[in-house]
Amino acid sequence: MRAVVLVGFMGAGKTSVGRTLARQLGWVFDDLDDLIERSEGRSVEEIFRQSGEAGFRAAERKALQELIAGLSSAPRVIGLGGGAFVQPDNAALLAGPGLKVVFLDAPVEELWRRCELDRRERPLQRSEEQFRRLYEERKPAYLKAAIRIDTAGKDIETVTAEVACSLDSGHPG
Ligand code: S3P
Repeated sequence: MRAVVLVGFMGAGKTSVGRTLARQLGWVFDDLDDLIERSEGRSVEEIFRQSGEAGFRAAERKALQELIAGLSSAPRVIGLGGGAFVQPDNAALLAGPGLKVVFLDAPVEELWRRCELDRRERPLQRSEEQFRRLYEERKPAYLKAAIRIDTAGKDIETVTAEVACSLDSGHPG
């Protein structure tokens, strides 16, 4: 395997679970939003404000392409931002050999609560109504992942263990 790629909506725990999983496996963890911020020299929030969502998606696409092209024999855990896997070009890129896409899911009320607790600036977290609509709109795309893990009411360690177990079980995809 070349990489485990964690996808899902805002608040799904992609970064926290990704970091914990990577530590346990002794693999490197890459957070796509961090890579975008580093290569752009701007925060995600600044990219949205200055270049709009289209500008952000272009930077996201480029960062993902570079990351996938640069994968070596040392496997990695990759955490994507909530909208990345929803872009068909990105999903196609992640359908390549040795890449296992895992969808971390939870009820939208819980995702909203987690984002409210976390003080991070999220340009697409506006009203609860808009948040719910966007989640419903994206869900069919997330379900194309090889594996879905229900994270409802679970802590990071439990979710991490379930992701690790799903990799061991030789789940298809
Ligand atoms: C986005 C989610 C964010 C970040 C950007 C866009 C989205 O990442 O990539 O604000 O489209 O859902 P998180 O899912 O880590 O919050």
